[in-house]
Amino acid sequence: MVEIVPSLLAADFTKLGEEITRVANGGVTMLHFDVMDGNFVPNISMGTPVLQSIRKFTKLTLDVHLMIADPDKYAPMFIEAGADQVSIHQEACTHLDRALRNIQSEGALAGVVLNPSTPVSTLEDVLDIVDFVLIMSVNPGFGGQSFIPHALHKVAALARMRAEGGLQFKIEIDGGVGLKNLSDVVRAGVDWVVAGSSVFHTADPAATITQMREVARDAMSLKV
Ligand code: DX5
Ligand code: ZN
Repeated sequence: MVEIVPSLLAADFTKLGEEITRVANGGVTMLHFDVMDGNFVPNISMGTPVLQSIRKFTKLTLDVHLMIADPDKYAPMFIEAGADQVSIHQEACTHLDRALRNIQSEGALAGVVLNPSTPVSTLEDVLDIVDFVLIMSVNPGFGGQSFIPHALHKVAALARMRAEGGLQFKIEIDGGVGLKNLSDVVRAGVDWVVAGSSVFHTADPAATITQMREVARDAMSLKV
C-alpha cells in the first residue's frame, strides 16, 4: 500500500487544524512537516512550537523532514515535540551513522534524505540501519517546484539495493509530485509519496487525496 503524505508547507497556516482534518478525511495516515533553517536551505519554515500544537491535534504519523545544519543536534527536540519519524540530510551530517542511531534511540524512526545531486551509492553503508530513505525530487527549500525526473532512477536503484540486500527500509519521495506523475513514481518503487501544492492548492484536498490513492493503487497493480 502506497501512502500519500501531505506536506503541511503548502497548507493555509491560519487554518492548520482544518487543513489536517481535510486530508485525514481523504484517508491519509501520515503528515509531512518541513523544517528549514535559512542555512542548509535558503528558506525558513517552522519549528517545534508548531509541531507541538499539531501533535496535540492529531494522532496521524508525523514525518519530520529536517532541512537544517547540525540535524543530529536538533532531532531530539523534534522527537520531544511529537515527531514519530525524523529524516536528516546525508549532506548535512558528518557522522551519519551516529546521527541515525541517535534518532532511533530517542524512540523515532530514522530516515536519511538525498538531494538531487547526491548519488544513492553514498548510502550503501547505512542502508542496513535506516528505517527509510527520502529521495528529493526537487532541490530542497521551497514547495511548488518542478519534478526532477532523474529521481525515478534513484528510487528504482534503491528498490533494487533493498531487494538484493534483503532489507526492509521504506522509500519516500518529496517534491513536485501530483496526479500527473504519480503513476511513474509508484511504478519506480516508492512506498511514501509526499505531496504539498498538488494537494492543498486544490479546491477539495480530501477528494484529491482519494483520487491520488486510487491512482497509486492502480499503478501498484500494474507494477511488474
Ligand atoms: C521542499 C519540501 C517539500 C515540499 C514539497 O523542500 O521538502 O516537502 O513541501 O512541496 P511540493 O509537493 O509542492 O513540491
Ligand atoms: Zn519535505
